[in-house]
Amino acid sequence: MTFDFDTPIPRDQTDSQKWQKYAGRDILPMWVADMDYKCAPAILYALHERVDHGLFGYARPVKSTTDAIVEAMERNYGWKIDASWIVWLPGLVVGLNVTAQAFAEPGEEVLTLSPVYPPFMTAPKNSSRVSVQVPFELHEGHWTINWDALERAVTPKTKLFYLCNPHNPVARVWRRDELTRLADFCLRHNLILCSDEIHCDLILDPALKHIPTAALSPEIAARTVTLMAPSKTYNVPGLGTSFAIISDPMRRARFVRATSGIVAEVNNLGYVACEAAYRHGEAWRQQLLSYLRGNRDFLLAALARGELPGMRVEAPVEATYLVWLNVTALGLADPIAHFEQHGVGLSEGSYFGVPKGHYVRINLGCTRATLAEAIRRMRLALAALPPR
Ligand SMILES: Cc1ncc(COP(=O)(O)O)c(C=O)c1O
Repeated sequence: MTFDFDTPIPRDQTDSQKWQKYAGRDILPMWVADMDYKCAPAILYALHERVDHGLFGYARPVKSTTDAIVEAMERNYGWKIDASWIVWLPGLVVGLNVTAQAFAEPGEEVLTLSPVYPPFMTAPKNSSRVSVQVPFELHEGHWTINWDALERAVTPKTKLFYLCNPHNPVARVWRRDELTRLADFCLRHNLILCSDEIHCDLILDPALKHIPTAALSPEIAARTVTLMAPSKTYNVPGLGTSFAIISDPMRRARFVRATSGIVAEVNNLGYVACEAAYRHGEAWRQQLLSYLRGNRDFLLAALARGELPGMRVEAPVEATYLVWLNVTALGLADPIAHFEQHGVGLSEGSYFGVPKGHYVRINLGCTRATLAEAIRRMRLALAALPPR
């Protein structure tokens, strides 16, 4: 079966957060990470069936839903987990916040690598914990970890390390040796490792594989909170269905205690979509990956042809549908405002922890035609700048 990623589906009059931001303005929304594609038919079918049942009482996952996750972990990554390790959550950002509250006290520190998805930095602060960021280094065309700086950043107050695996926004797939070194770092410093793996099924480079951080060894698994969801890959983030995988029973209990009475239950439809995605979504996912690779290559080709002078992708886009673009050469104090004036809505780089004016992030989860139009508009935006 061939799936259609090209037919535009109007979202401007809907509840879409992505499209509402620019309601009534001719600006293509290429910011928040959701995609403009209809879900896999298997997910839609399962949801229709569930709706037809007609009852929507308080929900609990049925065994087949939890089993679908257990089986997907083994099938996709050779990672054997037990169903009891799963803690359902309405979102990964919730998981980041809960982890900070469960494993650090107010005033204690949470380390991460930047630039990074903004809640990695705001989640600790939300509950008076402290976020400490260690910037990546660009080394031989790859974003790499500055190990010396990471060691120097550890203080007696450091309790947690947040890893984005694969990484948003730099689109890096961490290699086994890097993950092993990070795991060793966390073990040596007695840190809990929170591994956000929401983008794990969106690896674009066929030569690379996702390695769940907790699958490295039982020692690191025992101190890891893995956060995952079908949401990014299968385009169901609005159904609010995610989960943590925590193998250590004491730490899992601590995590669950921190959710108690505050974190909402996952809903009936979310469970159904989650199971359908993991059981029946693979053919759709493979075609999605191929389409996203096409979009990535389309943008990279435009950049290589010099159509967007002053904009650069500095490292391979190995995963996700998000591209981190260096725009320093444009010399703009507010690149987002400039591109919005020319009809393209990008994400502000400074939200990810870098100084304003240097980076923007573009979301390629759109039709090829929309991407072509966005590139055309960005070309005009650059042509409108005074000569440099
Ligand atoms: C790394 C990462 N974590 C979490 C999220 C959001 O997760 P949720 O919508 O489940 O809170 C995103 C969304 O872009 C993300 O990129």
